[in-house]
Amino acid sequence: MKIIARGLNANRRWFLKKALATAGATTAGGYLLADDDGRRLSKGDAAMLRFAAAAEILEADFWIQYNELGGIPDPEVPGGTGNPIYTAKLKNLDEDFDQYIHDNTDDEITHFKFLNAYLMSKGAAPANLDQFRMLTGSTATGSSGKPRLTNLMRLTLDTSWWTRYRSSANNPDLDPNFVFPQAVPGLHSGQFTAIPRNNADLSPDTHIQAIANTAAFHMPTIEQGGNSLYPSMAQRASSSEVLRILLSIGPTETMHFQTWADKAGNAVSTPLAPLTDLTNGLTFPDLNSSPFGGETYQTNLIMPEPCPFLNRGLPACSIIRPTETKGVAMGAVKFLSAMGLFLGQPNSFFELLRDLASEADAAKRNDD
Ligand SMILES: [Fe+2]
Repeated sequence: MKIIARGLNANRRWFLKKALATAGATTAGGYLLADDDGRRLSKGDAAMLRFAAAAEILEADFWIQYNELGGIPDPEVPGGTGNPIYTAKLKNLDEDFDQYIHDNTDDEITHFKFLNAYLMSKGAAPANLDQFRMLTGSTATGSSGKPRLTNLMRLTLDTSWWTRYRSSANNPDLDPNFVFPQAVPGLHSGQFTAIPRNNADLSPDTHIQAIANTAAFHMPTIEQGGNSLYPSMAQRASSSEVLRILLSIGPTETMHFQTWADKAGNAVSTPLAPLTDLTNGLTFPDLNSSPFGGETYQTNLIMPEPCPFLNRGLPACSIIRPTETKGVAMGAVKFLSAMGLFLGQPNSFFELLRDLASEADAAKRNDD
């Protein structure tokens, strides 16, 4: 099916748009319907935006859970009433923590709404995960109790982004087998909740602080993924407008990442660190003290260290990393799945995510 709007009269264009939207705009090869200026959305561009929209729906789902318990419920981010004890522990990391949760949540909601609206404006199918919104979330005071898409209660966090962005010698794109050390090894070797699962999680003190600290590491762990996903996909955008969308949303993920990296630093420095959750042994070390410290761990280093980029014959450069475009969407699905973010979802959920990812990864620049 190859439909090009240019040359069609207005009524004909309207009819085709409506027909495609009604049919769910299946992408059986070739172009989807164009806008009134004749600009077309290629199958690959639509697939990349649709994968991004799905990722943003998933992000929005867990950010809403954070906002219900530790953010600021309001008309921009409705739902929940806040949990004072959890919120106080988050505020030990930064007094503006609740505001930042609110604003990050609002951002993600606007990302998926915009991406889906843009897709539909071009006659392309949006991302829709509603049928999988059925996980049970927190029952602690403040939670709305709504069914969820994502699970924040059994997370295994890869905290190696901390050292990846401080390495001046290694870049995952040039050294795919290099193992960057974990900042908080405990978070990478077990399953931990980032929100109070119920009111029993609100004490003892070290337990609920460790839960808040887990959130403070989960947030940058997620956002650094978005920070890589967008520039990685942008390299294969065919339309300059789709390129503009990817280049305009991606850096907001970067802004989130750096903000949260700074908050995570407060969980692994004095006066909060070292801290051990007496209920499960999860430990947040003081990363400014021996055997840590130095450029690899020092907690107030939140800017990216310059590293090799493209090839080692060129000077080091301060960059987002990784940005390898091949297989990036499937890599994101694997990363989020390994984190435990979807524990409890059925196989059909993972199949849908893999389908969306493989279509996005098949997109080629100058697709036509
Ligand atoms: Fe986002």
